[in-house]
Amino acid sequence: MLDIQKIRADFPILKREVNGKPLVYFDNAATSQTPQVVIDAIVDYYSNYNANIHRGVHTLSQEATDAYEEARLKIQRHFNAKASHEIIFTSGTTHSINLVATGFSSFLKEGDEVMVSALEHHSNIVPWQMLCERTGAVLKVIPMNEEGELRMDTFDSLLSTKTKLVFVNHISNALGTINPIEEIIQKAHHVGAAILIDGAQACPHIKPDVQALDVDFYVASAHKICGPTGIGILYGKQEWLNKLPPYQGGGEMIKEVTFEKTTYADLPHKFEAGTPNIAGGIAFGVALDYMNDIGFDAIAAYEKELLDFGTEQLLAIEGLKIYGTSVHKTSVISFNIEGIHPYDIGTIIDKLGIAVRTGHHCAQPIMDFYKIPGTVRASFAFYNTKEEIVKLAEAVKRAKTMLS
Ligand code: ALA
Repeated sequence: MLDIQKIRADFPILKREVNGKPLVYFDNAATSQTPQVVIDAIVDYYSNYNANIHRGVHTLSQEATDAYEEARLKIQRHFNAKASHEIIFTSGTTHSINLVATGFSSFLKEGDEVMVSALEHHSNIVPWQMLCERTGAVLKVIPMNEEGELRMDTFDSLLSTKTKLVFVNHISNALGTINPIEEIIQKAHHVGAAILIDGAQACPHIKPDVQALDVDFYVASAHKICGPTGIGILYGKQEWLNKLPPYQGGGEMIKEVTFEKTTYADLPHKFEAGTPNIAGGIAFGVALDYMNDIGFDAIAAYEKELLDFGTEQLLAIEGLKIYGTSVHKTSVISFNIEGIHPYDIGTIIDKLGIAVRTGHHCAQPIMDFYKIPGTVRASFAFYNTKEEIVKLAEAVKRAKTMLS
């Protein structure tokens, strides 16, 4: 059992009002809120040991380097990576995907196939389309069904020895569907394809074990997991990261530079050119400690309660339709009310202090599938309450009355 009131007290922002009403924050799939310990870690870094890392013999630089590398070790343990150098710090999920997609230009030739799913965020579609443009590889799409699940029978028929790379999200940002990634990874490997899992929406709810999954690449952003924006990770198996060419050239990623030839640094530095987001990396480690202290099993169980309660409350509103009805889903409810634009609902309920996301959620192919311009998306976190969900349902009813 989680002590929700105690948890809520950890988040200063949850005390604020919006438009004269207590904030109800249901836009957690866009970004999670930040507990005081994470804010303190950022302030502590800039107040006490702000210095560049891996570069100085002086005390501050060594303290900053130690704290940053300690964060990498925490992240390694959290994801159960075999080695800490398999964790590459990036600016977030989008950066991580672009790093891999750019590197794969060296491995693909015309006629090779790469495979995406119909449930992806644009950040796990566009970089691969750019890769196909560069290489002449062909993009195949695993289709979805009405419930918002992947059609695994079609996945089987699309896979062949031509498939070189499959990239699928662990959980859909727009619908909340949890994809059967264990089966997808195993089948991709069976035909010799590499696989990248976009874990941006899964990591707030699930603790992934990259070794048990046997996944080649797994990517995530800190800001969805109570950490700061501008920092994330690429996990890659050592053998893949050694094969991939560097993404950016610059300081820190080299062994030796002459005008004739440059040799690259070992992992992880080969992929970490330039001064990184040092405070962000350290704070990411603190955010994972915070989440792990609460416990991911307890978080998942409580969020399932919120999902079931929210689904029941919202479905009681006449004319409301939920998109994404898989039994395998996390605490995201995407919905519309017949005849009303999602943007109008979002605007009215913001006046009542309720934050949701409206629109296509950077997942236009899903909206095209349902033939809708977008949805209202309420996404719950472990610091939300059933009382807040009741407020959401009342606000949506009020918006419906005003707009009908
Ligand atoms: N990917 C984030 C979302 O789904 C921004 O809202």
